[in-house]
Amino acid sequence: MANWKLEDWQNYKKLILPDIPDLHKIEVYERHGGYEQIRKILDNPTEWTPKRVQEEVAKANIRGRGGAGFNAGLKWSFMPPKKPGVPRYLACNGDESEPGTYKDRRIFEYNPHLFIEGVLIACYAMEIDAAYVYIRGEYADWIDMMQRALDEAYAKGYIGKNIMGKGFNMEIYVHKGAGAYICGEETSLMESLEGKRAYPRSKPPFPAQYGLWGKPTTINNIDTLANVTLVMRMGADAYKAIGAPDHPGPILYGLQGHVKRPGLYEYPSGMLITDLIYKVGGGIRDGKKLKAVVPGGVSVPVLRADMIEGITMNTASLATVGTYMGTAGILVMDETVDMVKWLHRVTRFYHHESCGQCTPCREGTGWLEKLVGKFVEGIATERDYNLLLDLCDNMEGRTVCALADAAAWPVRNTIIRFKDEFYARIQKTTVLV
Ligand SMILES: Cc1cc2nc3c(=O)[nH]c(=O)nc-3n(C[C@H](O)[C@H](O)[C@H](O)COP(=O)(O)O)c2cc1C
Repeated sequence: MANWKLEDWQNYKKLILPDIPDLHKIEVYERHGGYEQIRKILDNPTEWTPKRVQEEVAKANIRGRGGAGFNAGLKWSFMPPKKPGVPRYLACNGDESEPGTYKDRRIFEYNPHLFIEGVLIACYAMEIDAAYVYIRGEYADWIDMMQRALDEAYAKGYIGKNIMGKGFNMEIYVHKGAGAYICGEETSLMESLEGKRAYPRSKPPFPAQYGLWGKPTTINNIDTLANVTLVMRMGADAYKAIGAPDHPGPILYGLQGHVKRPGLYEYPSGMLITDLIYKVGGGIRDGKKLKAVVPGGVSVPVLRADMIEGITMNTASLATVGTYMGTAGILVMDETVDMVKWLHRVTRFYHHESCGQCTPCREGTGWLEKLVGKFVEGIATERDYNLLLDLCDNMEGRTVCALADAAAWPVRNTIIRFKDEFYARIQKTTVLV
């Protein structure tokens, strides 16, 4: 049974970003049990076969931290059997482009070796030869930090040829993105890594069959891979006991907007949204009232203040109010926020970031911005309101990737959940159409 209240986790010891000075340095990481899991595996290959490692990770039910929440170990099991002479790849998604999300960069900065060890374990489990760490171009400092950590790990023989003298070979490369939201989508990221324009690929075939350079590939978020090391350290059962059973483990909650103490906080999954806002974040600033919360990055449906009572940060609970965990980037908005203007800002982002490959997204995101803009100007009609819903119907699930869905969900949910505010902006004079 999971604990839901903050008080139950007063003694929670942070696992991903523990308060250990200089943990980013390899010697400090080693002193705190670093690289012992990959050593344990390589020292006992008959006990820790690749399949057994995969099963342990699948049992732990690490839900992908990139937003979609897919079981990491289960995803690994989709890789086909290894064929001699055919390379296989791991793509590590550090594009971190979802607005309101800034957790992966903290891992690069404060605990990069936890992630690197997770990459080594993943590559062992899937018999992969090379991993690419794709980091958004704007993260210049964090790219340097990651490279420094890799250099240290190479120098100590944790990466490269004949790792720890155990005949395990693998390479890890850092790749700098050029700064586009679409590059975080898994198949666009692969196109980008191959040096092409980042257009998403149609699926199937899925990356496990046809990934980087057409070879079997798995893609995981940085935070997901850091969690892999934790699972190997504590065992799947202990990991699963942290937080909510349907989305277990530590979560890096990004708390932003109108709270007194915004920031990135590590706690177990399953925290009450109200505890995060009022206890962790110190409540709403300037004595204002809460108006709305977006729980998982801007793409996921918004919640009105009256909807969050008793709702916890895990898939099952959030589903009861029609939203998702996403990246756990929580945007808190107080009563001063004009939801119409806010939504207009959101639609502008998606219009700018649509890659333009699929017509419903290329055209639809532009129309969403234009129509919400009419509400901002006070020249919208009821027909525009219905047209927005119709547009969402024609975008959701109709494109190669989920960017169109990510653009449509905030619109559909904001105009329904804050209908009065939108209706108040409908122009009062009759318009002949
Ligand atoms: C438009 C779009 C942008 C995305 N951006 C990111 C991102 O920046 N980082 C990320 O890890 N996943 C992102 N994703 C999700 C990835 O496609 C993929 O699900 C994820 O990297 C898989 O890793 P995980 O299973 O470990 O979460 C994005 C998806 C879409 C549709």
